[in-house]
Amino acid sequence: MLTLTLHRPEALNALNTALLGELADILDQSAQDDRIAAVVITGSQRAFAAGADIKEMATLDAVGVLQDPRVGYWKRISQFPKPIIAAVNGFALGGGCELAMHADILIAGHQAQFGQPEINLGIIPGAGGTQRLLRAVGKSTAMQMVLTGEPISAQRAYEAGLISEITQAELTLERAQSIARTIARKAPLAVQQAKDVLLKALDMDLATGLQYERKAFTLLAATQDRNEGIQAFMEKRQPLYKGC
Ligand code: HXC
Repeated sequence: MLTLTLHRPEALNALNTALLGELADILDQSAQDDRIAAVVITGSQRAFAAGADIKEMATLDAVGVLQDPRVGYWKRISQFPKPIIAAVNGFALGGGCELAMHADILIAGHQAQFGQPEINLGIIPGAGGTQRLLRAVGKSTAMQMVLTGEPISAQRAYEAGLISEITQAELTLERAQSIARTIARKAPLAVQQAKDVLLKALDMDLATGLQYERKAFTLLAATQDRNEGIQAFMEKRQPLYKGC
């Protein structure tokens, strides 16, 4: 398990090009590292991340936005094949909320706030804040958040299905790491296939999704870890997975 802590306290962890690039690079490396089964991304108690760096954004014209390297960084983050768990406290706004939504599991402290305030700047979300948010919380809540720019509380985010657990603020990271450790004990190929198939469910019709699921299920029948998992159950012992 790897824990990544966003650390730009002077800007409430605003995601500038350097920070987002570093995140994409580390995730690319982690994808190749068999010792890392899952990644936890967190910020500080005050802010997970308060958005894209507005001061940096102010320097970009339309061509600059078109050629912004962050578009590629977001894509690489979204393609990370292993589970990402976001441990969110404080502000998760704009690009910060969008980064949290790139995670597969979101855990938040009870004082966390999730919002897409871009409308206040005369822009709209640009890294999934309309698409992923709507899929996570439904049309009305997504519309309200994006059109008013007003954040929602952790409690509301939980009720809407954006996050899966609320913790005390000081326990959020610990809880996210505990979930990551639980995942790390599973067969890695099964974990990666499960993530892939679940994410595809957001894009596919049911019949195609079921077919995709069945193919992944069949593929896993060819792994040694599948045999080990079933054998360990029969022998009433813990499985020893090798990732093959
Ligand atoms: C750059 C930021 C920042 C940001 C905060 N800061 N958010 N700098 N980009 N997104 C800086 C402030 O300028 C300030 O620095 C310091 O962090 C502390 O912030 P304050 O405003 O003094 O703190 P507070 O009064 O507690 O207010 C917190 C806040 C507010 C409500 C979160 O900072 C805020 O509204 N931030 C902007 C949130 C936002 O609009 N995010 C969306 C960005 S657009 P100084 O040096 O002045 O002390 C976006 C587009 C994504 O994300 C597109 C993806 C491609």
